[in-house]
Amino acid sequence: MMLLHRPRRNRQAETLRQMLAETSLQTADFIYPLFLIEGQNKAIEINSMPNIYRLSLDKLLEEVAQCVELGIKAFAPFPSLSDDKKDKYGTESYRKGSLYLEAIAALKKNFPDIVLFTDVALDPYSSDGHDGVVENGIILNDETLPILGKMAVAQAQAGADFVAPSDMMDGRVGYLRQALDAAGYTQTGILAYTAKYASAFYGPFRDALDSAPRFGDKKTYQMNPANRKEALLEAQLDFEESADMLMVKPALSYLDIISDLNQNFNLPIAAYNVSGEYAMVKAAAQKGWIDGEKVMLEILLSIKRAGAKVILSYFAKEFASLRKKA
Ligand code: PBG
Repeated sequence: MMLLHRPRRNRQAETLRQMLAETSLQTADFIYPLFLIEGQNKAIEINSMPNIYRLSLDKLLEEVAQCVELGIKAFAPFPSLSDDKKDKYGTESYRKGSLYLEAIAALKKNFPDIVLFTDVALDPYSSDGHDGVVENGIILNDETLPILGKMAVAQAQAGADFVAPSDMMDGRVGYLRQALDAAGYTQTGILAYTAKYASAFYGPFRDALDSAPRFGDKKTYQMNPANRKEALLEAQLDFEESADMLMVKPALSYLDIISDLNQNFNLPIAAYNVSGEYAMVKAAAQKGWIDGEKVMLEILLSIKRAGAKVILSYFAKEFASLRKKA
C-alpha cells in the first residue's frame, strides 16, 4: 500500500511515545482537598470516598506531613462543623479561635512552604446549608457578600495564601479583593470558582461535610450544566474583578468549559475533579470492573490536556505515591 502519511510511525516504541507526549502530569500540578473535623485523634473514612478521611487537626497535620514528603505542596482544607456551631448568618466562619481558622494558622506554622487555598462560602457554617444567607426561601446575594468578606479577611489573617470563593454569589470576587486590600492583604490571592455547576457529582462531599442544603437545591446560584457561553461571561466578570486563577467545577463532564476558559483568558485555569468523580472510579475499581489506577491517570491527564494548569483532586496523594515509587 502506498501511504504518504503513517501516524503510527510515531507510536511504535515506548521511548518515542514518551518523547512525543503532548501532555504530562506532575505532583506539582495538584492541590489536595482535606476535610477537617472537631476533636482529637480522629480519622473517619468517608463511606463513598475510600481512603479519604475526615481528620481532627492533629491527624490533619500528620496527613499533610506525609503529603509534603510525597511532594504535594498545595492544600485546600474544608471544615465540617457540628450543627450547634451553625446559624443563619454563618457567624462561626469568621470567629477568632474557630476550628478552621486555628487549623489554617497551625498548617502555616508547621509547614511554611505549603500553599494554602481556603474555602469561602457559607454552606459549612449555615443552618440552612446554602452558600448564602436565606430569607423566605430565597438565597440573598448582596447580603451575603459582607459575610464572605469577613470570612476571607479572617482566613488571610490566619495565613491563607489564596482564598477560594466557592459560593457563586455575583460580584464576590471584586468584593473580596477590596476587602482583602483594605485590610492590608494585597498579596493574598483569589482562586475563583468561576464556572461552578449545579452538579450531582458533589454528593459524596456533602455527605462528608454534612453540608447538603436543608431545602431546595443550588440552582439559583450554581450554573446550569446545559450552559457553555455563560461560563465565558462568569470568567469575564471574575477576570475583571481581578481573580488570580479561574476554576471550573466539576472537571470531567466539563472539559469543554476548561478548554474555553484556557483559550480565552490569560490566567492559570484550575479544575476541580470532584468527590463524585472520585467515588465512581473507586466503586468501579472495587468491583473489578475497571483498572482504577489506569482510569485515574487517564482522567487526570484528560483534565490537564483540556487546559487545566492546576487540578484539585482527591487522587493527588495516590498519584504522588505512584510517582514516588516509579
Ligand atoms: C460548597 C462546596 C461544594 C464542594 C466544594 N465546595 C459542594 C456544593 O456546592 O454543594 C464540592 C466538592 C466536591 O464534590 O468534591 N461551597
